[in-house]
Amino acid sequence: MAAELMDGVAVARAVREDVARGVADLVARGVTPGLAVVLVGEDPASTVYVRNKGKACEEAGMRSVTIRMPATTSQGELLAQVDALNADPAIHGILVQMPLPPQCSADEVIRRIDPAKDVDGFHPVNAGRLLIGDPDGFAPCTPAGVMELLRRYDVPTKGAEVVVIGRSNIVGKPMGALMIQPGVDATVTTCHSRTRDLAGHARRADILVAAIGRARFVTADMVKPGATVIDVGINRVEEPRSKTGYVLAGDVDFAAVREVAGRITPVPGGVGPLTIAMLLKNTLRAASRVAP
Ligand code: GUN
Repeated sequence: MAAELMDGVAVARAVREDVARGVADLVARGVTPGLAVVLVGEDPASTVYVRNKGKACEEAGMRSVTIRMPATTSQGELLAQVDALNADPAIHGILVQMPLPPQCSADEVIRRIDPAKDVDGFHPVNAGRLLIGDPDGFAPCTPAGVMELLRRYDVPTKGAEVVVIGRSNIVGKPMGALMIQPGVDATVTTCHSRTRDLAGHARRADILVAAIGRARFVTADMVKPGATVIDVGINRVEEPRSKTGYVLAGDVDFAAVREVAGRITPVPGGVGPLTIAMLLKNTLRAASRVAP
């Protein structure tokens, strides 16, 4: 029997409606949450993401500021922009869109953002807070979105075997940290490109999270029948018959895996829409802290 589809679009809509209600409450108390998104250069995918973030912000009743800087921006100019946003009381959340041009250091820029405005959850202070279970931190939006999806579909996590494929700072590592939080209580295995017998680990998973950035990497033989499969990947695969010359594929071989899994996220329309919804949620939280 084919797996149940986990509808990230519907869950994201519900989160955004919750956020919009929270924003309306804050506005009534005199605070309009403000998110600043900094885009350096004109990377086409980043330009689309940034536009979508701004639109989602405004739909939720927040103020959205997009700062576009040329691809030739120096590290000093970018840091000065971050400093200005840190000091701006109308801005509660700051996101510097990645990737940055080669003359800019993402690590240094991330460390310069005030952790209280780091709604991406990338600052080491927020990474540390997540690890020690400090609720004042911000969790990165994609793994936070996965948790939201699991909650809204009542996927049991207590004592569950979770296998995360991928060890990035943005998804794989924080995903594992969220899954072992008290109340979630999963048992986590993190696999990566050097893992021996990755398929053997994956086959034990009750919840399998694929975040390795390789198209259709997870095949049906790597999935335990009935498992929940969460696909975080979004990869371009050449397809001459398509108008654009490519199609988007996740890290999971969707057509085959859906015949084995119990639940599965599609790509697109799975985890992706939740990333923006969780960004709005983090921005609302950041603004709530400074509200009277
Ligand atoms: N580039 C792609 N995804 C993201 C994200 O979630 N945050 C930032 N800052 N850059 C990105």
